[in-house]
Amino acid sequence: MKKILFVASEGVPFVKTGGLADVVGSLPKYIDREHYDVRVFLPKYACMKQEFKDKMKYVTHFYLDYNWQNVYVGILEAIEEGVHYYFIDNEYYFNGDKVYNDSPVYEIERYAYFCKAVLSSLPLIDFRPDLIHCHDWQTGLIPVYLKERFQGNDFFRGIKSVITIHNLKFQGKWDVKTVRSLTGLPEYYFTPDKLEAYKDANLLKGGIVFADAVTTVSNTYAEEIKTPFYGEGLDGLLRARSHDLRGIVNGIDYDEFNPETDSHIVKTYNAVNFRKEKVKNKRALQEQLGLCQDDRKMMIGIVSRLTDQKGLDLIAYVMDELCQDDVQLVVLGTGEDRYENMFRHFDWKYSDKVSANIYYSDDLSHKIYASCDAFLMPSLFEPCGLSQLMALRYGTIPIVRETGGLKDTVQPYNEYENTGTGFSFTNYNAHEMLRTIRYAEQIYYDRKREWNKIVDRAMAADFSWKVSAGKYQEMYDWLIG
Ligand code: GLC
Repeated sequence: MKKILFVASEGVPFVKTGGLADVVGSLPKYIDREHYDVRVFLPKYACMKQEFKDKMKYVTHFYLDYNWQNVYVGILEAIEEGVHYYFIDNEYYFNGDKVYNDSPVYEIERYAYFCKAVLSSLPLIDFRPDLIHCHDWQTGLIPVYLKERFQGNDFFRGIKSVITIHNLKFQGKWDVKTVRSLTGLPEYYFTPDKLEAYKDANLLKGGIVFADAVTTVSNTYAEEIKTPFYGEGLDGLLRARSHDLRGIVNGIDYDEFNPETDSHIVKTYNAVNFRKEKVKNKRALQEQLGLCQDDRKMMIGIVSRLTDQKGLDLIAYVMDELCQDDVQLVVLGTGEDRYENMFRHFDWKYSDKVSANIYYSDDLSHKIYASCDAFLMPSLFEPCGLSQLMALRYGTIPIVRETGGLKDTVQPYNEYENTGTGFSFTNYNAHEMLRTIRYAEQIYYDRKREWNKIVDRAMAADFSWKVSAGKYQEMYDWLIG
């Protein structure tokens, strides 16, 4: 039995702010249980729902030498859908009503503590992983510590590590002096071949340099991040590590996202009966959101963090033009004020066409995937993207920009060859996007049979974890030997 430990800052169902949580919460379930014992470490945040806190059981606690103090580390555990979870409990670091804090240096302090606490917990829970699978910058110090102080200890010697980049934009950077003091790492770790980047200490960089392998969440993103435009300053390092860097596309949980069994939606349907049944969801959603009630209207969905990454400035730019068309737009998500306000404004201006729901709700997200005809995702960059996979699963046709995982998972419609599962455009240009949306409208309104064949192909596409979990297993085997 190979032992694998996942370490991350969020994971479904316990805590979620974005796609990272979906991956951390679903991938372990799809790793072959006969050959791998996969366990997961997360922080225990005060803002987790009480129902999940109630599931956690106290294991033990100890005091960690951290930041020149003795700091409490509680270890809790819970079993969720057969997966063994552990939680690091410290009320000073993980209190607050939000998962992430706005102060970058405090974030570094909390997650450096978390990394050290996780490693120090392992002997106490009697789980010696063969490999630690780290996710994003918050866990970047684990590969560093494994190669540094923990090497001197028999328990830790030989533990391999992998880091998966879910988003290169976030790196955990702060001045060297402060980070040195927080991490306790020796001075010679803060050079450009290790943790330093552009004069700052950079925790993600540490992870990339010291991990035994680096992955990211799609093939195209793995290529893109080796270029300056997508590389966020680390493209040189990623080129240097290109032998150990690979893209493995994310899957989604096909049990949770299943139009045939989904309890959130008004009318379940499948690949055979969607032509009759799917629209009943649209009807119900139009009523729920106060949109004009008309089965025929093309409804476009957006479920997204409202940030620059998602290409929302393109939408803002052509929103008035788009709203002249015969379409409805349903938005769900929170994020930057300017995008929240932009959608609120258009909801007010075109109240029977636009519905802006500026909050997050699992329930409404499922209803949107099931009810809409198309799903818009014009991202500036997109490491993988999960919403387009959910949309495909529900026969809701993605309209995407050809970047990262969007390019790898949505096959553009070709009307001559009768192929494709969605619509896509290349350049980060608002009118190119609008043209593509209008092309989709034209197929939807004038060639409905063709549209339904796109839906057939979308629903037949397979983005369950099966294939990708196999690729992770291959990588684990190769590293563990
Ligand atoms: C981040 C990326 C997104 C990816 C997700 C899970 O949220 O922005 O593209 O799908 O991580 O890997």
